[in-house]
Amino acid sequence: MAAVIGVLPGDGIGTEVVAEALRVLEAVAARYGHRFEFRRGLIGGAAIDATGAAFPEETRRLVRDARAVLLGAVGGPKWSDPAAKQRPEQGLLDLRAAMGVYANVRPVRTHESLYAASPLRPERLKGVDIVVLRELTGGIYFGAKSRTADSASDSCSYTRAEIERLLRMGARIARQRRRKVTSVDKANVLETSRLWRSVAIELFAREFPDLAVEHLLVDAAAMHLLSRPGDFDVIVTENMFGDILTDEASMLVGSMGMLPSASLNDSNGGLYEPIHGSAPDIAGRGIANPCGTILSAAMMLRHSLGLEREAALVEDAVFAVVDAGLRTRDIAAPGTRDCTTAGMGDAIVARLNAG
Ligand code: IPM
Ligand code: MG
Repeated sequence: MAAVIGVLPGDGIGTEVVAEALRVLEAVAARYGHRFEFRRGLIGGAAIDATGAAFPEETRRLVRDARAVLLGAVGGPKWSDPAAKQRPEQGLLDLRAAMGVYANVRPVRTHESLYAASPLRPERLKGVDIVVLRELTGGIYFGAKSRTADSASDSCSYTRAEIERLLRMGARIARQRRRKVTSVDKANVLETSRLWRSVAIELFAREFPDLAVEHLLVDAAAMHLLSRPGDFDVIVTENMFGDILTDEASMLVGSMGMLPSASLNDSNGGLYEPIHGSAPDIAGRGIANPCGTILSAAMMLRHSLGLEREAALVEDAVFAVVDAGLRTRDIAAPGTRDCTTAGMGDAIVARLNAG
């Protein structure tokens, strides 16, 4: 039976990068004898235009029936009017909540051939291999909001259970890696962070005494990510801190366009999306970097479809092409060759077929 994969390209460069990831998945299916059934749906601004809702009922049904979901990006100036009733981003948050994907895995690994694309010095980038585990369905993103002409509020809340399940997943990931966890909070100011830290201290001591645990305040963590990125293994943090720190961390790798993510729940259903946004400034020009989305598709093969070997082959193909010097402009460097979004996809597919 074919595995049903929900495909939600969304807005802006979302459609362009998802198209390349689908070509890669098709190449994997053809070469290794798998059957994927892609079902496309609307989300974000495209869904608002077509249906009036950012996360339409049809899309809700589609993702419920899918084994995994691949998403591009949402948002754009067309839907950014502060007075608008529907925002594309809310569609994405509703999707994450509907799928119950509370843990967002964002791997950040540097590659020597991309050092020149990073603003940091090469000696800082050597051996950087971090997994940021971002809580994805709680915190300030999902709290009550209020707004009058002259005041506004966003509330942040977390329960012990929400914190514990995220920390446990982070600890299990660390056990497969270098056995170090950095928990990031703002416990000197925020009550939610004080709960976070006390739950973390207790849980790691009780259930994961074999792990090295460090607690950092988020402002310090932002600095340490640049001053000693090689010291981090697994970072566990709440929703908004994880959002901000991973944009920062993408500059270690060289570009937002390179970073994939997997959003997981406790079953093997998952949502896979690059960490970047819809990039309206370059949308429609065929120059977006599809690697983050293609690497997200590889994470889907691994985590939702149980195809570890195929996932690794896709990752190898992406980095073989990047190492060979083919570059979209976000990762261009002296001596590399420029290519388009589709050109990058072509080269990765060719590499897979040659492997
Ligand atoms: C991300 C994005 C989203 C987020 C936006 C588009 C709502 O920045 O996935 O990191 O903040 O979660
Ligand atoms: Mg973000």
